[in-house]
Amino acid sequence: MDNAYDEAYQRSLKDPEGFWGDAAADIHWFKKWDRVLDSTNAPLYRWFPGGRMNTCYNCVDRHVENGRGAQDAILYDSPVTGTKRRITYAQLQDQVARFAGVLTSLGVVKGDRVILYMPMVPEALVAMLGCARIGAIHGVVFGGFAPPELMVRINDAKPKVVVAASCGIEAGRVIPYKPMLDEAIAMSAHQPDHCVILERPQHQPAMTAGRDIGWEAAMAAAGPVPCVPLEATDPLYILYTSGTTGDPKGVVRDNGGHAVAMYWTMKNIYNANPGEVYWSASDVGWVVGHSYIVYAPLLYGATTVVFEGKPVGTPDAGVFWRMVSEYKIRTLFTAPTAFRAIKREDPDGQLLKQYDTSSLRALFLAGERSDPDTIQWAERHLGVPVIDHWWQTETGWAIAANCTGLHSFPIKPGSPTKAAPGWDVQVIAESGGRAAAGEQGPLVVKLPLPPGTLVTLWQREDRFRKAYLDPFPGYYLSGDAGYIDEDDYIFVMARTDDIINVAGHRLSTGAMEEVLSSHPAVAECAVVGVADDLKGQVPLGLLVLKAGVTTPNKEIIADVVRLVRERIGAVAAFKTAIVVKRLPKTRSGKVLRGTMQKIADNQSFKMPATIDDPAILTEIGEAMEAIGYAHARKDGA
Ligand code: COA
Ligand code: AMP
Repeated sequence: MDNAYDEAYQRSLKDPEGFWGDAAADIHWFKKWDRVLDSTNAPLYRWFPGGRMNTCYNCVDRHVENGRGAQDAILYDSPVTGTKRRITYAQLQDQVARFAGVLTSLGVVKGDRVILYMPMVPEALVAMLGCARIGAIHGVVFGGFAPPELMVRINDAKPKVVVAASCGIEAGRVIPYKPMLDEAIAMSAHQPDHCVILERPQHQPAMTAGRDIGWEAAMAAAGPVPCVPLEATDPLYILYTSGTTGDPKGVVRDNGGHAVAMYWTMKNIYNANPGEVYWSASDVGWVVGHSYIVYAPLLYGATTVVFEGKPVGTPDAGVFWRMVSEYKIRTLFTAPTAFRAIKREDPDGQLLKQYDTSSLRALFLAGERSDPDTIQWAERHLGVPVIDHWWQTETGWAIAANCTGLHSFPIKPGSPTKAAPGWDVQVIAESGGRAAAGEQGPLVVKLPLPPGTLVTLWQREDRFRKAYLDPFPGYYLSGDAGYIDEDDYIFVMARTDDIINVAGHRLSTGAMEEVLSSHPAVAECAVVGVADDLKGQVPLGLLVLKAGVTTPNKEIIADVVRLVRERIGAVAAFKTAIVVKRLPKTRSGKVLRGTMQKIADNQSFKMPATIDDPAILTEIGEAMEAIGYAHARKDGA
C-alpha cells in the first residue's frame, strides 16, 4: 500500500466488519455487540446489533470520569448579545443530567420524541444531550424555518415535549420564536404535552398555563438522572431535510454506529486531537451542527464552540479571526458562502492582519460546492490547507474528503478529493453500467453504507427505499451528479433533483412551488436556483397567471415573496419572481427547469428536441434580462 489512506480505504471495503469493529473500541460499551454488521435484511443494514451503549455517556460522563472534568466542553461566544460563557465537562454533566431529569419529570421515556426549536445557545446542546441520556429521540428544527414548517415536523415526529428558546437573534433583530411555536402548535393536529421555554432577556414570552414551563424553574426543580443503556440500533435523532416536495424527509440516525463513525472521523478526517478547540461555524439545526458542533467533538473529548453570530456584520468580517485567536482554535469548519461573505467585505484580508491566527491548522469547507476562487483566497490569507469535503444530511459525515489524519493528497480545486474509508463511491454511466473515469452521471454508493449514516426515514421506510435504494439496486442514490477522474478524485457538480443550495442551506424548489401555486392569481409556476455570487444559488420564481387576472404583476410578486417567507421561512431567501406567458415544457408536459436555469446563469444550452414552443425561451430570457440575469442564447443562435 502507498499510504495510510489507501490501506484504510481498501480494508474498509474488503473487511468492513474488521475495520469498523476496531474503530468501535474507542467507544464505551455497556455490552459488546453481537456482530459488527447485520446484513440479513439487506438492503437495510444495521451496525453493532446487540451492543448497548449511551451516546451522552460517551460525550460527557466518560470524560469527567477520565479526568477531563475541568476542561472546557463548550465555549459560547455570542456577539449578537455581547455574551461569552465557558462550560466545563463537569458543568455540562451537571446540566445535562438535570435536563434529563426535567424531561423525565414531564413523562418523557426512551423512544419518545422531543422537538427542539433553538438558536445557537449552549442550552440547545444541553437539551440534545439530555434527550440522548434517556433515549428520547430529538428532532432539531432550524430557527429560520417558519411556523408551518415547524408544524409539519411536530405533526410527523409527534413529540411529547417541545424545547424552545423565547427568541433567536439575527444581526440587529430579535426574532421571537415562542409566538412562532405557539402558531405551529395551534395549526398542528398533534399536541405536545409540554413546552420547556428558555426565557431569554431579549424576549419575554407569553406562557400557556399547564403546558409551558420555564427552563430555569424546571432545571432548579429537577434532580439529576443517569444515562440509560440503549441498544446501539436505537434511534438517537431525527433530522428533517428537504426532499423534492414540501414534505420533508425525517432522516433517522442510530446511537452505536453514529458514535463509532463520529469518533473515527475526528482523527482520520480532521486530524484533530482530544483537548483541542474545534469550531464548526454552522448551526445546530443542520447536520453539520449535529455532527460537528455537538456529537463528534464531545465524543472525542475536544472543546466545541457555540457561536451565535454571522461571519460578517457581527460586528465585522474579522469576527472569525477574533474567534480563532481568542480561543486558540485548531480546526475551523464552515460553508464556502461564509468565506465568500468575508472575502466580499475584506477582499485584501486587512482585518485578518489584526489577529494572531497561528493556532489554526486547517480550514474545512462543506455544504455546497467550493468554488476554486474562494479556496485560493482562503489559502492565501490563512496560510493553512483548505479542505473541501462532500456530505449530506443523510450521510452524517463526509462521503469524500482529504483524510488529513491518514494522508494529505494534493488538492484539485473543485474536488472534495477521494472517497472516505467506508464509501464505495461510483458513477452510473448513461448506459446504466459503471462510468469510465471522467464520465459524468449520478453519484451512487455501493451498499452497505458505513456506520453513522441514515438507517431509514422516520416512519417511512417505503419512502426511504423508493428515494435512495430502489433506483439502483445494491446502491445508495446520493441525489448528486458528478464524475470521478483517473486519480480517483471525485467531482460533485450538481443535484439531480429539485433541491437547491442557498448559502449552504438545502432547500426544495418543489416546496416553494407549492407555496406559489397556492396564490389565487397563479395558474402555473416554476422555481429554479440561479447562480449568486454570495449565496451560491438563490431561488427565482416564474409565474404564469390565470386568465383575466387584473392585479398588477408587482403586487402578485410581492404577495408570493411574502407567502414563501411566512410558510417556509426567511432562510429560503426567496426574493425574486417574474411573470411569464407560459412555461417552457417538453411535449409530454415536463417543465424545462434546467434550461431556464441555464438561461438565467448565461450558460450555453441545447434547445431541447422535445420542447413544445421554442419561442417561449426567448421571452423568458428577456424577462430575466430585465431583472438583471444574463440572457444566454441557445447554441448556434
Ligand atoms: N433564525 C431566524 N432567522 C434566520 C435564522 C435563524 N436561525 N438564520 C437565518 N435567518 C434569516 C436571516 O435573518 C435572513 O433574513 P432576511 O431575509 O430578513 O435578511 C434570512 O434568514 C437568510 O439568512 P442567511 O442565509 O443567513 O443570509 P444572510 O444574508 O443573513 O447571511 C451569510 C449571509 C452568507 C453570511 C450566511 O448565510 C452564512 O453565514 N452562511 C453560512 C451558512 C452555514 O453555516 N451553513 C451551514 C452548512 S455547513
Ligand atoms: P445538506 O443535506 O444540507 O448537508 O446538503 C447536502 C447537499 O449539499 C449535497 O447533496 C450536495 O448537493 C451539497 N454539498 C455538500 N457538500 C458539498 C461539497 N463539498 N461539494 C459539492 N456539493 C456539496
